[in-house]
Amino acid sequence: MNEELKSHLEFFEELGIDGVRLEPEWRTRREPIEPVEPAPSEPIEPTEPFEPKTALRVIREELGTDCSRCKLHTLGRTQVVFGVGNPNADLMFVGEAPGADEDIQGEPFVGRAGQLLTKIIEAIDLRREDVYIANVIKCRPPGNRNPEPDEVEQCEPFLFRQIDTVKPKVIVALGKFAAQCLLRSNDPITRIRGREFKYRDAILIPTYHPAYLLRTPSAKREVWEDMKRVRAILRGET
Ligand code: URA
Repeated sequence: MNEELKSHLEFFEELGIDGVRLEPEWRTRREPIEPVEPAPSEPIEPTEPFEPKTALRVIREELGTDCSRCKLHTLGRTQVVFGVGNPNADLMFVGEAPGADEDIQGEPFVGRAGQLLTKIIEAIDLRREDVYIANVIKCRPPGNRNPEPDEVEQCEPFLFRQIDTVKPKVIVALGKFAAQCLLRSNDPITRIRGREFKYRDAILIPTYHPAYLLRTPSAKREVWEDMKRVRAILRGET
């Protein structure tokens, strides 16, 4: 069995998809996509003057364990969920906001969606501890509602500093919210996904959120396309 087919099948099996599709669109390679420079976001914080592990600790301390910059601290969050993983990671995942499990455990993507994310990471031959994982906002919105603009405004500078510290080669934005936030775009995820963006010093690849995949397993096929692209970039096969 050729290597590509083998890895397709392994990914599908791992993620619980039965069978393969033979339609031509699943066999064609994605078009080379012109890099799009996102609209400049807010002023880029200076790079932390420490090696990444220490710099992340400094950012975490500045954020504080009892952050009260936005109203979420009054709305039932248990703790600030900073981020986790390899401070020198080549690959970074950015999600939206902690959910109930993350709020309890203090780590991003540890609930059902997180377990699927871990499988997605492993499908491209990495371990969860090889990558860095963070969210746009660090506190759980009540009832899992979407983060509100004032919450994002207060919190996203910390994400940008995490990105500028880890300096990943590839950032995967998980879902519409993270993609729109990073790219300063209002486009639906279906328009943004499948494209690549030059973002700061990284290539940003938007894909579907694992929580969406739990509801819509057929979308795993597109995520697999995106993840193969991520793996190729990381391996220098671009
Ligand atoms: N969804 C997210 O966007 N982030 C998490 O950490 C968990 C679920």
